[in-house]
Amino acid sequence: MSDAEAPIGVFDSGVGGLTVFRAIRRRLPEESLIYLGDTARVPYGSKSGAAVTRYALACAGILLKQDVKLLVVACNTASAHALDALRDELDVPVLGVIEPGARLAVERTRTGTVGVIGTVSTIRSAAYQDALMALAPGLRVHAKACPLFVPLADEGWTDGGIPEAIARAYLDELKELGIDTLVLGCTHYPLLKPVIREVMGPEVELVDSAETTAAVVEGVLEGIGLAAPSGNIPSFQYKVTDSPEAFADVGARFLGHPIDSVEWVDF
Ligand code: DGL
Repeated sequence: MSDAEAPIGVFDSGVGGLTVFRAIRRRLPEESLIYLGDTARVPYGSKSGAAVTRYALACAGILLKQDVKLLVVACNTASAHALDALRDELDVPVLGVIEPGARLAVERTRTGTVGVIGTVSTIRSAAYQDALMALAPGLRVHAKACPLFVPLADEGWTDGGIPEAIARAYLDELKELGIDTLVLGCTHYPLLKPVIREVMGPEVELVDSAETTAAVVEGVLEGIGLAAPSGNIPSFQYKVTDSPEAFADVGARFLGHPIDSVEWVDF
């Protein structure tokens, strides 16, 4: 296999990163992909930066053994804490989801008042707030952790009165602050987009970093001359550190189609 035919490695704490995996697969249909969900240690969103960095390095180690040509950290919490450590340790390009999401938000905002939602650990790290302010120093950024959104998405409980009441409890405050753009800073939140849109209203732009991250992957691969050759027949593999059946079940909802085979890997 040539270097250009090698797979792209994508990892997340669990199923959420499949929203990014799906966007990459759609944009780059000739690229082989290996997805790793660290289901033994999920959730990352309530953990310390040091723990998340340790887990992220372990995930990267598993994927590098598969000779991936590029690594996508398809988890906001891991991108918030572990990107520098991964870039220091690895000799393949490492891309996270925060910078692409922040860039898109800066492009979309008209009033310069932006909201960011994510896990407790992501919001506490201030990674989004810092990325946004670095791109546009005059921005007003309001951040809010929405931890209950992750179990709601995992349960498939994404519409109806209860998700809507929870979304209102989290988001009313951001609405009152007059944000015109809201960054969905967690891989699970795109599944709750209809409820979030209902609460925020049609005039607030929802920014999901999956599509922009896929565009960045494309640009980087082209830049380093490692895009899959035209006509390449891709392969798709799914690996987890625990409970392959549960991953296949919930993951099908995130991907929008069934997952035939999920391999358990030991960390
Ligand atoms: N994938 C995580 C993120 O994007 C959410 C799930 C978790 O807490 O592990 O932040």
